[in-house]
Amino acid sequence: MVPGDKSISHRAAIIAALSNGVCTLRGFLPSEDCMHTVNALRALGVQIEQPEADVLVVHGKKRVLPPPKDEIDCGNSGTTMRLLAGLLAGQTFETRLVGKASLTRRPMDRIIEPLRKMGADIVAEGPEQTPPLRIRGGSLRGIHYHSPIASAQVKSAILLAGLFAKGKTTVDEPFASRNHTELMFNYFLVRTIKGDDDTISVFGDQVPESRDFAIPGDISSAAFWLIAAAAQPGGHLLVRNIGLNDTRTALLGVLVRMGAQVREAVEDVDQLEPRGVVEVTGGPLKGTVIHGKEVPQLIDELPVLAVAGALASGSTIIRHAQELRVKETDRIAAIAHNLRAMGVQVIELNDGLELHGPAPLRGARLASFGDHRIAMAFAVAGLFAEGETIIQDADCIRESYPGFEKALEDFISPRRMRTSTPVIGTLVPAAPVEE
Ligand code: S3P
Repeated sequence: MVPGDKSISHRAAIIAALSNGVCTLRGFLPSEDCMHTVNALRALGVQIEQPEADVLVVHGKKRVLPPPKDEIDCGNSGTTMRLLAGLLAGQTFETRLVGKASLTRRPMDRIIEPLRKMGADIVAEGPEQTPPLRIRGGSLRGIHYHSPIASAQVKSAILLAGLFAKGKTTVDEPFASRNHTELMFNYFLVRTIKGDDDTISVFGDQVPESRDFAIPGDISSAAFWLIAAAAQPGGHLLVRNIGLNDTRTALLGVLVRMGAQVREAVEDVDQLEPRGVVEVTGGPLKGTVIHGKEVPQLIDELPVLAVAGALASGSTIIRHAQELRVKETDRIAAIAHNLRAMGVQVIELNDGLELHGPAPLRGARLASFGDHRIAMAFAVAGLFAEGETIIQDADCIRESYPGFEKALEDFISPRRMRTSTPVIGTLVPAAPVEE
């Protein structure tokens, strides 16, 4: 089992908060990022209890939120800031959204432009439209927005604002990004329309109907273990209760192309988000090309897929992934830097990477660059390296995967072959998560 899906946890909390009653959310991911969303909603007057680490009881406010007493801290969570911007665009009061240094370097023009078009007043206080953001909304009008980038955060900010807008709000994007907001709207009985041309529309003035919801495990967190098993000839892993939404499972197809055996079985779609089991059997991996419409559907898995590429024979080429440059760190540069430190030949491209394997990985002292997915991807690389690998500044892992360190120990202890164990530097034990 892996902890709850991060994207779905943010959305479930937000939509439950707008609903007309009490919603119990199980399998919630109690990571730092998601807790920033929970605390932001609390600051907006929403009563939220957390009887267990992964259970939230959210008392919906029927869309009527009071102004917060203070600015809202989004920590390092881009999803919190961008989704809240959409929600706050529908409120008549002013809110200031702030975040950690690395969040204040992330682009916000992508949500500012469409939300302004809908009628919100948004000021970015940083240079180049970066945070902090001051948002005053209300009286929004529906628009049809052609997003220049395939981003679920952008799409979701617009759809959330659309709930408060007059008429219909429509978004389309160059390639389909994850569709959790749309599914969650439908689950909470908010009407949307999916056009033939892959547009998605929502009608304003709807109140989500309160319902309980169980969040499936996060395939992006499972990716670390699935890839580690795939890269180990004879390795075998079964992950249960994992989200299998087809806008998130492109990783599995890539692993098959690379030579792993993968079995995926959807067991339940009752709550609209498909969930089930994934089973991987490892083999000698071969390189592959990842590009085009696949990229938004495995964007968060690319750091650990690059590690798989280094272990695979032949070239692995990742293109059209320029979005990686504006994540928690510039992930293209970070991956190239760390792989080179481990002895891999890497060519850094503007929009991706080209690498040649199989490389005998050398243990090294590596930076996390303050980025949780870089830290975890290179902990996996450390499993395949000769000698010790130390990941520095690994506290950031708690942003998406509390319990990773224990899961890593569990993963390597029972009869699993490995050459050496990575040391996750400065990772303090996180809140317990049911494994
Ligand atoms: C997310 C969307 C993706 C992803 C991020 C979570 C979401 O970002 O990388 O980790 O929950 O909507 P973009 O929408 O910026 O591509």
